[in-house]
Amino acid sequence: MSSKSNRTGLAVLLCLAALGANHAARASIEAGKALAIEACSACHQVIPTQKKPAPVASPDEGVPVQAPTFAAIAALCLPADQLRLKIASPHYPMREQMFSGMDLESLAAYIGSLNASKICPVR
Ligand code: HEC
Repeated sequence: MSSKSNRTGLAVLLCLAALGANHAARASIEAGKALAIEACSACHQVIPTQKKPAPVASPDEGVPVQAPTFAAIAALCLPADQLRLKIASPHYPMREQMFSGMDLESLAAYIGSLNASKICPVR
């Protein structure tokens, strides 16, 4: 085998690896979306066609708090680790969320995927 075809073979392998990684990222985003619709939509507008939920009661502070839409959260352009932190240790009156590991990563990946290419600086 010539070194040229070796290089071609390597390029094909690298492309396949990249496709695999892309597929995994896509799967994580889709899983995050499903999770978010299930677990977050009572308070947050998760997808644009969802009716905005009522503000969340905040008995300690009196005034109910409108949870930000996921589009608004995405527009903050937070890095994934900060998103995960905000989900795992929520700010009152968001309730504690029982997510960890892959689920937390998927949720952050989904939020990060919303509009990110249009409005957030490339990281
Ligand atoms: C019980 C209602 C409720 C649920 C359920 C809920 N949230 Fe929230 N969330 C809120 C409220 C209210 C706020 C705004 C808190 C504040 O004023 O600081 C918030 C804030 C956030 C923030 C921070 C936004 C910012 O500006 O920093 C993130 C991220 C977030 N929610 C993600 C999620 C995700 C992901 C889920 C589902 C796994 C979820 N939330 C479920 C009510 C909720």
